[in-house]
Amino acid sequence: MKASQIFYISAALLTWLLEASYVKLTNAVCESYNKSWVLINNCRLKAVERRKTVLNINITLLYPANDIRLHIQLMKKANGYKPWLVNYTIDACQFMRRRNHPVVIIFHNLIKNVSTVNHTCPYQGVQLLKDFYRVDDLPLAMVGGEYVLLLTWIMNKRSQFMTNVYFSFEE
Ligand SMILES: *[C@@H]1O[C@H](CO)[C@@H](O)[C@H](O)[C@H]1NC(C)=O
Ligand SMILES: *[C@@H]1O[C@H](CO)[C@@H](O)[C@H](O)[C@H]1NC(C)=O
Ligand SMILES: *[C@@H]1O[C@H](CO)[C@@H](O)[C@H](O)[C@H]1NC(C)=O
Ligand SMILES: *[C@@H]1O[C@H](CO)[C@@H](O)[C@H](O)[C@H]1NC(C)=O
Ligand SMILES: *[C@@H]1O[C@H](CO)[C@@H](O)[C@H](O)[C@H]1NC(C)=O
Repeated sequence: MKASQIFYISAALLTWLLEASYVKLTNAVCESYNKSWVLINNCRLKAVERRKTVLNINITLLYPANDIRLHIQLMKKANGYKPWLVNYTIDACQFMRRRNHPVVIIFHNLIKNVSTVNHTCPYQGVQLLKDFYRVDDLPLAMVGGEYVLLLTWIMNKRSQFMTNVYFSFEE
């Protein structure tokens, strides 16, 4: 076999593998722990195509948030959800000033175009994630299975709300 043939076969195989593996959003759960500060107006998946489900989140912050920490956990399902790869808390306001965390940059790049999370603190009023679906671009080496990304938003040192997104990754 010529080198060019091997190249084309490899490229075809890679394309097939990429098409055969995909990420699908399966559920979204949001909850406010303090309804005098945070209202969840919408937190819902919507199927738009056979392989495309979009996520919309709409929350209202009734008071300005100047001190925001974000607890990020990525868990994989195996006899319940187990911690996997990611479990840490970041200073979200500092991140929006300095973009100083490599893993959070990856997540932020996925949503920055389709969300109101695009400026420095304070945050107040309606905050949106609109028709989000680009989880396919998660540049993490993932094995097939069910996952959940648990985001707990800590404002003024207390957990005020959470936004949890469930997805499956098929190899
Ligand atoms: C809930 O939010 C209100 C308004 O920002 C705040 O005054 C109060 O301290 C918060 N409660 C808790 C338990 O954080
Ligand atoms: C977000 O929710 C608020 C309050 O329900 C509503 O007024 C607003 O139109 C919603 N925004 C979008 C883009 O859905
Ligand atoms: C995540 O990290 C926190 C703090 O480092 C720790 O207390 C907690 O047990 C960890 N969670 C899991 C599920 O391992
Ligand atoms: C962001 O939006 C611009 C314009 O709509 C588009 O060209 C670009 O590809 C988008 N970037 C990402 C990362 O989605
Ligand atoms: C942030 O996003 C909002 C809503 O999508 C947009 O109106 C605004 O221009 C954006 N701001 C920046 C600094 O990109």
